[in-house]
Amino acid sequence: MTKACIFDLDGVIVDTAHYHFLAWKRLADELGIRFTVEDNERLKGVSRMQSMDILLSLGNVSLSQHDKETLANKKNTWFVDYVERMMPEEIYPGVKALLEQLRKQGVKTGLASSSKNARTVIQRLHIESYFDVVVDGTMIVHSKPDPEIFLLAASRLGVDSKDCVVFEDAEAGVEAALAAGMKCVGVGSPAQLGKAQRVIEKTGQFKPAELEQL
Ligand code: BG6
Ligand code: MG
Repeated sequence: MTKACIFDLDGVIVDTAHYHFLAWKRLADELGIRFTVEDNERLKGVSRMQSMDILLSLGNVSLSQHDKETLANKKNTWFVDYVERMMPEEIYPGVKALLEQLRKQGVKTGLASSSKNARTVIQRLHIESYFDVVVDGTMIVHSKPDPEIFLLAASRLGVDSKDCVVFEDAEAGVEAALAAGMKCVGVGSPAQLGKAQRVIEKTGQFKPAELEQL
């Protein structure tokens, strides 16, 4: 029986995935690296520094650790600029209602994002109180596809992995959820997220009654 639902943030609760893309694209353009929306799929769910490495590998560019950190910080400044201009209305339609319905039915809710900016984002959206537990990129060593973040969320929720359902838009996130022994609802394209038990187009479409059919 599902006792907890754990949500990724970027691309599942709100379209911050697009802001990450715009910021990485700006950096790629500055570095003369060709970077497409398709390339960006590989950056989803993984940490900032791993994303930096993937971006540089696309252009066969190799830099010192210091330079990589400087560039990653620059990208983060641009991302944070977008976040600071975000409005609570940007939360995807139906997400708040889903979180409310789950809790009403006694299902716990967790947020598990590789982003170090996750808490700032949910504060801007005024949805901190919708989650029983928030786990972010500042609290883990290994980012998705490693299961660490979901295992930490489940342990803080006091729920067994097998009783958790994860909502994810990243291939690395789906792999992490499955590696944690959890079920997964992919949010996005079946071609990308086909390993999940179910794939939906938008988070807000999901109905709590569907949990037991996964
Ligand atoms: C994930 C995003 O949620 O967080 C990735 O899917 C991003 O694209 C990662 O790189 C790290 O985010 P941040 O905000 O710590 O740079
Ligand atoms: Mg995501």
